[in-house]
Amino acid sequence: MLLLLILVLGIHFALRDARAQSVTQPDPYVSVSEGDSLELRCNYSYGGALYLFWYVQYPGQGFQFLLRYYSGDTVVQGIKGFEAEIKKRESSFNLRKQSVHWSDTAKYFCVLG
Ligand SMILES: *[C@@H]1O[C@H](CO)[C@@H](O)[C@H](O)[C@H]1NC(C)=O
Repeated sequence: MLLLLILVLGIHFALRDARAQSVTQPDPYVSVSEGDSLELRCNYSYGGALYLFWYVQYPGQGFQFLLRYYSGDTVVQGIKGFEAEIKKRESSFNLRKQSVHWSDTAKYFCVLG
């Protein structure tokens, strides 16, 4: 069975707004077996309009957009079978995938804009 190693990094956005807005990704590394489901955690804190994104960076490549949340449905479908759910009560925007493939090995970025 293949072991998948995923590096998770948070991007902290200091906006022009004086209020502190940030995201926290509590798990620096997540490893799962191929075919398993995956959940990457992201907590956010914000003081105003809420735009949340997940980006992926595959080894040796640039950033690739996965999905974004503005408003409306709390579950957002992205590309490559990824989805994320915003839970305002716990300030989370976790990324999920049902069945991961070894090619999902990458850095995943939760971004607040
Ligand atoms: C972060 O998100 C988790 C769910 O993934 C939630 O249980 C927890 O309360 C959140 N933590 C904070 C500090 O908001």
